[in-house]
Amino acid sequence: MPLVPTADLLHAAVGRRTGLAAFNVIQLETAEALVDAAEQTGLPVILQLSQNAVAYHGALEPIAAATLALAAESTAHVAVHLDHAEDEELARRAVEAGFGSVMFDGSTLDYDRNVAATIRVVEHAHANDVLVEAELGEIGGKDGAHAPGVRTDPDEARRFVAETGVDALAVAVGSSHAMTERTAALDLELIARLRHAVPVPLVLHGSSGVADETIEQAIRAGITKVNVSTHLNRFYTDAIRGYLDAHPEAVDPRKYIGEGRTAVTAEAARLMTLFDVASRDAAGRVEAGHR
Ligand code: G3H
Ligand code: ZN
Repeated sequence: MPLVPTADLLHAAVGRRTGLAAFNVIQLETAEALVDAAEQTGLPVILQLSQNAVAYHGALEPIAAATLALAAESTAHVAVHLDHAEDEELARRAVEAGFGSVMFDGSTLDYDRNVAATIRVVEHAHANDVLVEAELGEIGGKDGAHAPGVRTDPDEARRFVAETGVDALAVAVGSSHAMTERTAALDLELIARLRHAVPVPLVLHGSSGVADETIEQAIRAGITKVNVSTHLNRFYTDAIRGYLDAHPEAVDPRKYIGEGRTAVTAEAARLMTLFDVASRDAAGRVEAGHR
């Protein structure tokens, strides 16, 4: 199936009032694992490459080309997104490389600078039919630099979306990046107010720190795109660690990295099914009708 525009997946999810999984690609095997999860579940997925992951690889184009090729060759609905770009030039290159969406993260800038930089990214992206996600109100914990107590103000969010023309908005509602315990408390009432205040889909970042039940509540309150990275990295690393502990003689990376890839597929599939609250509700209605 050809690469799916992120806008198509987001708008379909909003229409169904359901969640949409957005998982971070670290290297080729995680991208393969995530595409496998989409094919196994029959659910759509966004593969996202962060500016940090691009820096790890030393360049955008090779890892982007691999991710775009996997998405385009999959039988599932897969979109490719640039995550947390603070560098405007990187956002432009992702648009030109064929990404379906870019996140410009000006959240560390003051309001006026964030607006001005986001507008520049939006103008270039929209000229190429690419969707833009932006962030207002720092989501705590990124690189350990931000306080987790920050919240997005609904009135400011409405104004920011109107001024910039962004198509999706990452909001600070209690989650914090890179948590390894799923203990974050989300402000569900704030999510509902933001949902009414802004006309574009809302994005939850730092979802690794949020328990299953709370993620489901957040989707029902108005979150559409759910970003997860650290949680899946933990499954990947734990599986590799387990394999190497059990096989100290191992030298072939395909053996242990393959274990990590299999573990990520299983957990990504479980999360995608969890986020799809609409299908669960529909199944519940059918079951109730049969009683
Ligand atoms: O943009 C990516 C996400 O916000 C991932 O955050 O690693 O805490 O799940 P996480
Ligand atoms: Zn994030």
